[in-house]
Amino acid sequence: MITPVIRPRRLRSTPALRRLASETRLHPADLVLPMFIREGTTEPLPIRSMPGVVQHSIDSARRAAADAAAAGIGGVMLFGVPEKRDAIGSGATDPDGILNVGTRALVAEVGDALVVQTDLCLDEFTDHGHCGVLSVDGSVDNDTTLERYREMALVQAASGSKLLGLSGMMDGQVAAVRDALDRSGFVDTVVLAYSAKYASAFYGPFRDAVESTLEGDRRSYQLDPANRREGVREAQLDIDEGADIVMVKPAGSYLDVLADVAAMSSVPVWAYQVSGEYAMIEAAAANGWIDRKRAVAESILSIRRAGADAVLTYWAVELATWLNERDAR
Ligand code: PBG
Repeated sequence: MITPVIRPRRLRSTPALRRLASETRLHPADLVLPMFIREGTTEPLPIRSMPGVVQHSIDSARRAAADAAAAGIGGVMLFGVPEKRDAIGSGATDPDGILNVGTRALVAEVGDALVVQTDLCLDEFTDHGHCGVLSVDGSVDNDTTLERYREMALVQAASGSKLLGLSGMMDGQVAAVRDALDRSGFVDTVVLAYSAKYASAFYGPFRDAVESTLEGDRRSYQLDPANRREGVREAQLDIDEGADIVMVKPAGSYLDVLADVAAMSSVPVWAYQVSGEYAMIEAAAANGWIDRKRAVAESILSIRRAGADAVLTYWAVELATWLNERDAR
């Protein structure tokens, strides 16, 4: 019998050794919960394709944010679902628009216990559902959209958002928003760039969550799923434009891009585990096909292992609760 000299199994032989040899750990502080706040509802409304996730009323959002703070997660990322939409997404820059009202309410509720963050994009507020304003030929007008993003940034910052998530994939959006913030004295408002945001089928359930009116697709501004190098290029441009954090989205199917960006980035790198990633695991678990708790934890651990410093995930609070229970034992 030949006996091996090198035995990697040695480090896996007991639970205590495995814990000590673990290269990646999950911690509540590295998790961010995306939340939907719907205008005109007094009760939370379930989202059909995202079991367990709701469109919040202002009151239920306040309670959920307090629970999130108690669980010790790093932050909440707010999305607004307005009752009325128009061509330029007026609701986004109205201080009384749902996202801005919701931001003020949540900041009043949780203060600095976690970081209250806002999605900076027009798609929830436009009647055509695109992330920007349209030119006469129907295409998304990059530079006119930048002007709208600048206005949006100021209203969100004034509402108390600490961190703006620029998810629209317009060229030059980081520099444009940074300049607007700095000129108005919001020098400490953080810019998170959704740098490598791919035109993905995994956003499907999110369209239910925000009652999207989009016809067609976003392929003229979001990245082609075929492209890895281009994701790194977008991250580098955003770093050069002054992004404080860069992000890769979706997460699970883009771990190669995430690892590449993590290897080159001089700023923190986040990843967004999107609605379709959530829905797939929930659906398989509901059928009894996978162990829900293990699949959730493994999916997020893998995103961290690939290089994400923090993860946006709809399971943020639930996972944090599990981690807190484990640590209490
Ligand atoms: C656009 C935006 C989208 C998501 C976050 N911000 C949708 C899109 O680009 O089509 C998707 C998030 C998810 O699927 O969980 N503002």
